[in-house]
Amino acid sequence: WSKTGHRVTGQIAQNHLTGKAKRALNDLLDGHSLAFVSTYADDIKADRAYSKYSPWHYVNYPLGMHYVDSEKSEYGDIITAIEECKTKIKDKNTPREERVFYLKMLIHFIGDLHQPMHASRAEDKGGNDIQVQWFGQGSNLHKVWDQNLIESYGMTYTELAHELNKVSKKEVKKMQEGTIYDWVDESHTICGELYDSVKVGEKLGYQYAYNYNDLLFEQLQKGGLRLAKVLNDLFD
Ligand code: ADE
Ligand code: ZN
Ligand code: ZN
Repeated sequence: WSKTGHRVTGQIAQNHLTGKAKRALNDLLDGHSLAFVSTYADDIKADRAYSKYSPWHYVNYPLGMHYVDSEKSEYGDIITAIEECKTKIKDKNTPREERVFYLKMLIHFIGDLHQPMHASRAEDKGGNDIQVQWFGQGSNLHKVWDQNLIESYGMTYTELAHELNKVSKKEVKKMQEGTIYDWVDESHTICGELYDSVKVGEKLGYQYAYNYNDLLFEQLQKGGLRLAKVLNDLFD
């Protein structure tokens, strides 16, 4: 996702933390919100010293395959990244500064895991090579899902998170079910459907935004609720 997507995910998660997780996070993040730190992993991309973390934002494997059966990248992927972050945070010997680093990375990666084009295929770099037009401007399928769709609402991340707050306890529980291995395959399946939703060079606008409104909101919702689940499990 772009900044807004990550912040929505962070804000939703913030509303579903246990008291214990809230206190642990407040201490580690020096009082900053999950929304505030959620974009850190993108901000450090500009610094070459952090280039090894770039492949950690996504995973590509053949459509129709499960993540566990796929050939893994030697540079790591979003799933190995999440596991590494969880291990470092749990390890009592991890220095505080490092624990904070991996926590901020984890908060970001759970968000990206729910952007369908981040559990994608390698041929077109997760849709980055599929050029389309968005309201007459050059874009690509990846960017449509990272940014264009969300921005088309013209709402702030707090407004968007507020819209997604009307969800029952039962629905929350349901959406928090599963593991990151289930969640990545779920995103990957959606990704396959999204490839079929466009033709190269297609002019996208209101109709596309309308068609995918519910799916976009569901992915943001799931990202937020599942981030809360991952953090509650880590700190509770
Ligand atoms: N580069 C290559 N594949 C990618 C993907 N799925 N998402 C983002 N960047 C990528
Ligand atoms: Zn992206
Ligand atoms: Zn990212």
